[in-house]
Amino acid sequence: MYRTRQPFDVTLFCHYFQELSHTSGLGEMAHYPQHGSTSRLLHSVAVAYYSYRLAAAAPLSFHMREMVRGALFHDYFFYDAQDGDPAHKGHWTRHPQIALENAQKEQWLSGIEADVIRCHMFPLTLQPPRFREGAVVSLMDKLCSVYEFFCRKEPYRGLRRLVLGQEN
Ligand SMILES: [Fe+2]
Ligand SMILES: [Fe+2]
Repeated sequence: MYRTRQPFDVTLFCHYFQELSHTSGLGEMAHYPQHGSTSRLLHSVAVAYYSYRLAAAAPLSFHMREMVRGALFHDYFFYDAQDGDPAHKGHWTRHPQIALENAQKEQWLSGIEADVIRCHMFPLTLQPPRFREGAVVSLMDKLCSVYEFFCRKEPYRGLRRLVLGQEN
């Protein structure tokens, strides 16, 4: 399959999200905090959504579905990273591999999807993304994290309503 240039399509984005959440434990991420008042599910949806928007606006072609799926799974781990448990020591560098292994237990992942998950913490982890999809997600993960840190009151209000069906 070749990369293609695609315009942003919110219906398609919601379809990618529904498709993955019906065949994985993605919804579980709603029970874990990420930054500030943002759940890990909302963070993952936001990173995927804004990566898609950025890629659609760029004068380049992308594997959009694979990028979105990788972004939705990029923090796919089932613990609170800030609970002080010594078992979570080194979390910031270890969690991409943990997320990848969790995702691979439930889904077959393409090389691009695996790369998006494995390399999203670059440069904190030393391996840079091999594909442009991974570079976009890694960038958007950082921008969303900064936004979530500073915007603790009702982050991503429109996105919550649009994708997750939450009113507030
Ligand atoms: Fe992460
Ligand atoms: Fe993240």
